[in-house]
Amino acid sequence: MTTRNLFLLPGDGIGPEAMGEVRKIIAYMNEAMNAGFVTDEGLVGGSAYDAHGAAISEADMQKALAADAVLFGAVGGPTWDSVPYEVRPEAGLLRLRKDLQLFANLRPAICYPALASASSLKPELVEGLDILIIRELTGGVYFGEPKEIIDLGNGQKRGIDTQVYDTYEIERIAGVAFEMARTRQNRVCSMEKRNVMKSGVLWNQVVTETHKAKYSDVQLEHMLADAGGMQLVRQPKQFDVIVTDNLFGDMLSDVAAMLTGSLGMLPSASLGAPDAKTGKRKALYEPVHGSAPDIAGKSIANPIAMIASFAMCLRYSFNLVNEADNLEKAIANVLDKGIRTGDIMAEGCKKVGTTEMGDAILAEFKALSI
Ligand code: IPM
Ligand code: MG
Repeated sequence: MTTRNLFLLPGDGIGPEAMGEVRKIIAYMNEAMNAGFVTDEGLVGGSAYDAHGAAISEADMQKALAADAVLFGAVGGPTWDSVPYEVRPEAGLLRLRKDLQLFANLRPAICYPALASASSLKPELVEGLDILIIRELTGGVYFGEPKEIIDLGNGQKRGIDTQVYDTYEIERIAGVAFEMARTRQNRVCSMEKRNVMKSGVLWNQVVTETHKAKYSDVQLEHMLADAGGMQLVRQPKQFDVIVTDNLFGDMLSDVAAMLTGSLGMLPSASLGAPDAKTGKRKALYEPVHGSAPDIAGKSIANPIAMIASFAMCLRYSFNLVNEADNLEKAIANVLDKGIRTGDIMAEGCKKVGTTEMGDAILAEFKALSI
């Protein structure tokens, strides 16, 4: 029987609650489908800091590196606001991305028909929305050096971050965007700030050259990132695939998330390059939402983004395409039935907690799987 190694890092805040709902799906798939998932679990973020004094321990890093896929919940919270910068909860996530070389972050923003009215935009603007943001995840200002605060000695300090991109980094993320576009509407919009940033000028050039050399069948458009943000809220359905850098991708994907009704709906996949021998990619799957400390422990968090992240894991790490389709369909069906967590609650719907939402999706998934 195939063995599929999953390393679970539930993290902080609502992370563990959301992960609990994925665990039920894993257990069902093992039992009913012989899926062969073997799970191990570690600590990341504030919970790892409390246990080990680090945002992730070396032992857990090794497990993450060895796993077929990592499922990640969320990190951070006010409890750890004053811990040293190097070991702040987010450092665990950034280290995982960097050490696993997960350069391609896929953030699909899909507006389920049932949720069109939960968006802050008019329903007709978001109904049927299906865009994919491809965010570069291991470069740019997140990791560029120097990155420091220096004392200028005159009572002033200087904070420095460095935005830096090499050709190969832009080429490979552009390649992912063009390839994903071919499986969708075949359109890519690249966003940067070439009007102010040298890295933006290079980004634009390399995307253009990559397109010309290998992907001229795909429709390519360039937009300045600020205008792109504006277009995302003006007419979001004009986009198919958006490719952008680490920082713009962070911001634009939060904007895109809200279009779909709630941050609680958006999954993501972070992928590395295919291994030269096995063809397998290192991968980490995480909801776009954060740890939401204000609602943690109350069992009211929306587990959909976490469950949808697991659906992406089934699709991209294990090629379990039918199962992934069914799990996504199960989410849509549950929403169609009017079952809602608080963040997406609407008039006439049934408000449920985290566990009830998870159970409803699992029941639907079972029904679709028979
Ligand atoms: C995200 C988050 C992270 C980021 C934080 C938690 C470091 O906002 O994944 O979008 O900035 O990348
Ligand atoms: Mg973010």
